[in-house]
This record gives sequence, C-alpha cells and structure tokens, in this order.
Amino acid sequence: MTPQMPKSEAEPCVLVIFGASGDLVSRKLIPSLFALHQQGRLPDRLCVLGVSRTEMSDQEFRDSLREKAGPGHEEVWAQFARRIHYLPGSATEAELYPVLIQRICELGREHDMLTEQQSRIAEQTKGSSPWVGMPNVLFYLSVAPTLVKPIIHQIGASGMVYEGKRWCAIDAEAVPWQRIIVEKPIGTDLASAQDLNRELGRVFEEEAIYRIDHYLGKELVQNLLVMRFANIMFEPIWNNQYVDHVQVTAAESVGVGRRAGNFYDKAGATRDMLQSHLLQVLALVAMEPPSDYNADAIRREKVKVIDAVRIMEPGEVAEHTVFGRYTASGNSEDDDGGLGYTELEGVDPDRCTETFAAMRVHIDNWRWSGVPFYMRSGKKMARKLTEVHIQFKRPPANLFKHFEPFASGKELVNNRLIINIAPDEGIGFRFEAKVPGPKFAMGSVKADMDYCYVFNAQPVEAYGPLLLDAMRGDKTLFKHRDEVEGTWRIVEPVLRSDLPKKLIEDYPAGSWGPPGADALLAADNRIWHNPEASDIR
Ligand code: BG6
Repeated sequence: MTPQMPKSEAEPCVLVIFGASGDLVSRKLIPSLFALHQQGRLPDRLCVLGVSRTEMSDQEFRDSLREKAGPGHEEVWAQFARRIHYLPGSATEAELYPVLIQRICELGREHDMLTEQQSRIAEQTKGSSPWVGMPNVLFYLSVAPTLVKPIIHQIGASGMVYEGKRWCAIDAEAVPWQRIIVEKPIGTDLASAQDLNRELGRVFEEEAIYRIDHYLGKELVQNLLVMRFANIMFEPIWNNQYVDHVQVTAAESVGVGRRAGNFYDKAGATRDMLQSHLLQVLALVAMEPPSDYNADAIRREKVKVIDAVRIMEPGEVAEHTVFGRYTASGNSEDDDGGLGYTELEGVDPDRCTETFAAMRVHIDNWRWSGVPFYMRSGKKMARKLTEVHIQFKRPPANLFKHFEPFASGKELVNNRLIINIAPDEGIGFRFEAKVPGPKFAMGSVKADMDYCYVFNAQPVEAYGPLLLDAMRGDKTLFKHRDEVEGTWRIVEPVLRSDLPKKLIEDYPAGSWGPPGADALLAADNRIWHNPEASDIR
C-alpha cells in the first residue's frame, strides 16, 4: 500500500477520547492540549469529545478538568473549553454508536471541520455510509485493558471506519480519515498482544494505528537519534570495540499508590516499564542508522535490533533478572501513606508483583555481540531518574601509571556518556583530565550539557506533541505492531516463569532497589550508576 506522507500541520479533527473520566485524561491529555492551545499550536478546527459512562453535561466535564489543566488565564481556558464536549455512554455497547456518529457529525458542522472537498463528497453520496459527512476522527483509547478489544470491535461494527480504503480513493483528500491511538499496555503477554493487534487490524489499517509510548515523545529520547546520527563523533565508537556496557534506568521516587488494585498488581514493573518504555529506549540506543528520518525507516531498524535480542531460555531467567518490592517508608506524608507495597489496598501479597525489575540483555549482532545492556526500573527508589548510561572501555594501556592517582594503585576511570532523559534533561560526559598545578596528576571530570539552559526552553509534556503528530499522520514516534510483539517476546520467558515469585526481594523505600540488583552487575564486575546529589545539576 502507498504510504501517505505526513502533513506539515495538524489537520482538523474530532478527538474522541474513550475513558474520558479517567486519570490520564485530566492529568496528561487535557493539560497538554491546553498548553498547546495557549502556544497557538492546535489546529483551529479541533475539538475533543470525551466519552465515558459517568453522566455529565459538556459544562460539567469542562469544569471537572479545569483544576488539573494547568496554569492559564481564565479567559483563555474558557476559549479552550469551548472545544471540549462530552457524551455519556458505554463504549462497549453497540447502542452508543449511532448516537456517537450523530454527535461527531454535529461537532463537525459546529466547528466547521469539513474541507470543501469533504463537504462536496458528503453532499453527493449523502447517507450511503456512516462515515459520509463525518469530519476526520482521531479515536483515543484511554480505558482499562479489558475494554480495548470490545471497543475496537464496536468501532468496526459501527461502519464509521473507511480509512483502509482511503489510499485507493481517487481523491483521498475528499474522504475523511479515521485514526486510533492506543495506550499501553498493548496486551499482557505476547499472545494477548497478537490478539489485540489482530482485532485492531480487522478494523484499521496499520497506517492508521498509533500505539502511543509517551517515552518516545520525551525530548531527550528523540535527541538520542539526533545525537547519534547528526554527529560524526559517536557512531565510530558506538559498538563492541569501544563500549563496555550500557545501562538504561527508569527510577521513580513515588510509589504505586491508588493504581495498585486496579492495574499495577496484575502488571508489575516488567510489564509496566521494561517491556514498553525501556526496551523502546534500548532499541533507539542500539539500532543501526536508518536510511531517513521517517516512520518506516526507523521502524525497520528498531525491529531488526529488537529481533536480535537474545531470548532467555527458561533456565536462564534467574541468572539475568532481579525482582523486588518496596517496604514501608513509615512516612505517613508520602504518596503511599508510608505503606509498603504489600500493604496497599487491592494488593494480593501472594501474587508477589514486582515494583522493581532489572534485566541483563544481550544483543546478538555484529555491533553489540559481547556488550551487556542492563535495564532497571522501580517505584519508591532513591530519586526520580531516567537515564541512559554508556560506559566505554578503558584505553588499552595507561601511559600515566607512574602518576597519581594511579601510582597509589587506582585505575583509569572508564569514559562514560550519560543521557539524562528526566528530570534534569541533559547530556554528560565523564573523562580523565590533568589536575591543574605543577604536579602531574589526573582526575575524573564531567562535562555537562544542560538541555533547558542551552536552548533556553522547557521540555514540553510528551503527550501534546504526540497528539499533534497523530493529527498530521506522522507515525515516527509511535510503535509498530512488530515492535510491540518483539518486545513481548523478550520478556515472555520472565512472564512464563514462576521465578519472580520465588526470587522476589524486599527493598527499603527510598533505596536503589534490592541487593540482588547490585549482585547482577557485580557478577560482571560492574556497578550501577547511582548518581549522588552532587552529580545532579
Ligand atoms: C507509565 C507507567 O507508563 O509511565 C507508570 O504506567 C509510570 O507506572 C510512568 O509511573 C512513568 O512515566 P514518567 O514519564 O514519569 O517516567
């Protein structure tokens, strides 16, 4: 099928959000859209239609969103709020859809969304199909994982998705598009992810499916590609000849809190973070140079490197993984009321869900053979920190061995490149330097690039730009079916084994995880990069 090129500007559409009364909508989606509205970056003819079961009017829905929508003058909010609408109903039931179609059409007229060509075709083919007369629609599924499949099924059954046939229409621009954004988790293991992808594929073309991973919208994650491929100096040393190992860390200082019972206890850190965000970051660090900066070229390289990750044999899981869960902090002021994970409401302690997971990963290709990649993620850790740490090998010989600190037995420090994804966005490089003064001695120093300072800009919440990309038809920062299934394949041996249950270790809230995590690296004579307060800008 001929790929359609992304547009330079977001196109008018109705953003239909299923699960509109949920947390993600009020905490992330609406605030990011409001911020874009204030920056003048939303298309004029864009509106939001929230759908969920709670009975509410448009105005009540708008009011429920105001508090968390973020700073902004009340007049500006009022102007933005006019774009927001609400429809109560159950998205898993067929009865909702005729009403939904009608509402979408009304909003299309109210916000003047149809292009001239679309109006003309609508006029000529009036009533022939449900999608005729509809504006472009971007569906967003922000619902519990169990509801995703039934909702996709109902969208398909309603007949409003024409997208698959658009590419062969004589005038594709005259036909409205329908796209869908699907939140993680995409399934709970490989089989359920394949099942969900098949359901999506029965209704939407792969081109119209946007599997969102907000990590791909983070500035420093995008910058990984720029750093690697817009500079000559990194690629020659980006391989097993020079790199000793790579660490990908996503540590959070907050606990699981209210999500424990309804989501987290059935997921755990491996599903919640490693399978999705961390393996995506790893793929961007490890992939070969793509031929162009576009969705297809990048996807091809990501899939290749994901496929090159060695899949653990069942008997190897214990050797390559570590699982932990945090104990009580005792601080009643913190977000979990100071409770340990197993004491949270809705947690079944016998399930032994891990709030910390670490994994050693090998990539069996020419570039990375012999270089371990270590991933770890945990809740209630010493601090919030998302980073990629690339440790290089030492020089083959130390010609300064007679000088300090080497004369007293110290060794050269490995060069390290540290990409701080969040919160202190930046890139640091640690290397050896001469200590100033008449005496010849060396010390290890760090050169820092503070991203916000250098560009005099604050990184924006990842969701907003990703939504705009979907409205432009740009899938570069979204996940393809093959990536999702490939990353499930990597963690599948862990999910199938009962080892996490047997091996789970407690770790104190506010620490860097269980002792086993240190032992995982110690077995390879390596240590985690746990920055001290002085290391943080
Ligand atoms: C989400 C996970 O995808 O990412 C959460 O479900 C986690 O458990 C969050 O807290 C972390 O995102 P960020 O952007 O704060 O690192």
